[in-house]
Formats: sequence, structure tokens, C-alpha cells
Amino acid sequence: MPRSTAPSERTLVIIPTYDERDTLPVVVERLLAAAPDVSVLVADDNSPDGTGEVADRLAAEDPRGRITVLHRKGKEGLGAAYIAGFRWGLARDYTVLVEMDADGSHPPERLPAMLEAVDAGADLAIGSRYVPGGRVVNWPWQRHVISRGGNVYSRIMLGVGIKDITAGYRAYRAGALAELDMDSIESKGYCFQIDMTWRLLGNGRKVVEVPITFTERTVGHSKMSESIFREAAVNVARWGWQKRRRQLRELLGR
Ligand code: GDD
Ligand code: MN
Repeated sequence: MPRSTAPSERTLVIIPTYDERDTLPVVVERLLAAAPDVSVLVADDNSPDGTGEVADRLAAEDPRGRITVLHRKGKEGLGAAYIAGFRWGLARDYTVLVEMDADGSHPPERLPAMLEAVDAGADLAIGSRYVPGGRVVNWPWQRHVISRGGNVYSRIMLGVGIKDITAGYRAYRAGALAELDMDSIESKGYCFQIDMTWRLLGNGRKVVEVPITFTERTVGHSKMSESIFREAAVNVARWGWQKRRRQLRELLGR
């Protein structure tokens, strides 16, 4: 396929931020070096540390005008920030929408490989830590246990084969997002990632995993919390249960 007709020709990278003033500029610089033709949307939830102003400065300084800042009222969680970003991008006819953290954990240098996967037919390319070639650097053992455990739990509950279903580094084909009812997505933390994957799979969309090295931040701190963990545990069990009930009904023919 000639490059000019590839979906990734119009790619929007959405970066949600909450108190990331030190890391955001580095991530944006690496991103635009690795993928100079993408547009960037920073979705800031009125960060107390002034990340919104830092983002405005980056936008003003980019000679190619590739950066836009979505200033949101206050902290509503990562899921809500992404949904606002998806709506913004779909309304502007982007054909691929990317999720990327602002803390440097997601290597922008791997974006071209993920976009290639979408151009090759994937509806969702997940930057995966748990397929051959993927890994995690700098995590304390507790975080490994939670993340691995969460993936095994999701695989068993939902009966899907995806190795890194909670991963937050993703490239979506716009058409796969456009058919979702965004209003009904309430998940906030890790659960948002599982929720999105589950919905795409339910719509028969093609999900692939591309190996990445995830490097834990050295500056700032994670916003994940116990309530986010609980949200994922409860919802995944519920979705799995709903699926099995549906299967049982079909089996019993009613
Ligand atoms: N706008 C906005 N609002 N951004 C937020 C909010 C919020 O309420 N909460 C977090 N973010 C942003 C952070 O500023 C960062 O850019 C990104 O979302 C990820 O937040 P972290 O706090 O660094 O998350 P993490 O490292 O614990 O989790 C990452 O890995 C998980 C899987 O291990 C994320 O990629 C998750 O999506 C992923 O599930
Ligand atoms: Mn992080």
C-alpha cells in the first residue's frame, strides 16, 4: 500500500496530564523526533503544578503547530481525559488515535511500529510488556505482582488471550472508536484500558500486541490508587459473569 493512503497518515497522539510539568516536555520532544508527522493533544485536568501552562508554551513554540492543549476543569481521571481526547480527534477526522502517558514510561520510539500494525490491519495495537521482546524496567516487585496478577485475572474472567490488557500505550483505528458509545464508558483507571479492549473485541475488532519496554517514571508519582484497583477487579468480574450468563442462555436456547 502506498504510504500516502495509510490510515496512520493522520495520527493524533493524546497525552493526558496531571502534574507532569517536568516530564511532559521531554516526552513531547522524543515523540516529535520519532514521529514528526503526528499531531499531539495534551489533555490537562487543570494540574496544580502548572502543566497546562507548560503545555501551552510547547504548543506556542512548535513551528509546525502540531500541538494543541485541551484545558479541562479539574481532575476527572485518565479515562475521562482520553474520552474527551477521542471526541476531539474524531471530530477532526484523525484516522488513528494514540494513548500515551506523559511520564516517559511509554517509549515514543516504538510508535512507528505500533502505527505499522494498524496500517497492516489492526484496529487496536497495544504496546505490550508481556509478549516476547517486551519488558518492564524499574518497577518494585509489588507492582509486577499487581500487573501480572491483573492480567491473569482478566484473562481468566473474560476468557481472552491478550497478554497485556491493562496497558496504557495504544493506537486505535478511528473507525473502531467511532462505533463505541462513549457516554457509557465510566471506567477511570486501569479498568478503562480493559474496558476499551473488551468493547472492541465484543465488536469483532482486531487487537494485536506490539512489544515495548515500559520504563517506570523517575520523576513525579503514579496516580493509581486502591480505588482504581478495586474498580478494575469488580468490573472485570462483572463483565466475565455477563458473558457467561449470555453463553448459558444461548446454550439453553432462551
Ligand atoms: N488529565 C488527566 N486526569 N490525566 C491523568 C489523570 C487525571 O485524572 N490521572 C492520571 N493522568 C495521566 C498522568 O499524568 C500520566 O500522564 C498518565 O495519565 C498515566 O498516569 P500514571 O499515574 O503515571 O499511571 P501509571 O503509571 O500508574 O499507570 C500506567 O500503566 C498502567 C498499566 O500498568 C498507565 O499507562 C495506565 O493506563 C496503565 O493501565
Ligand atoms: Mn506512569
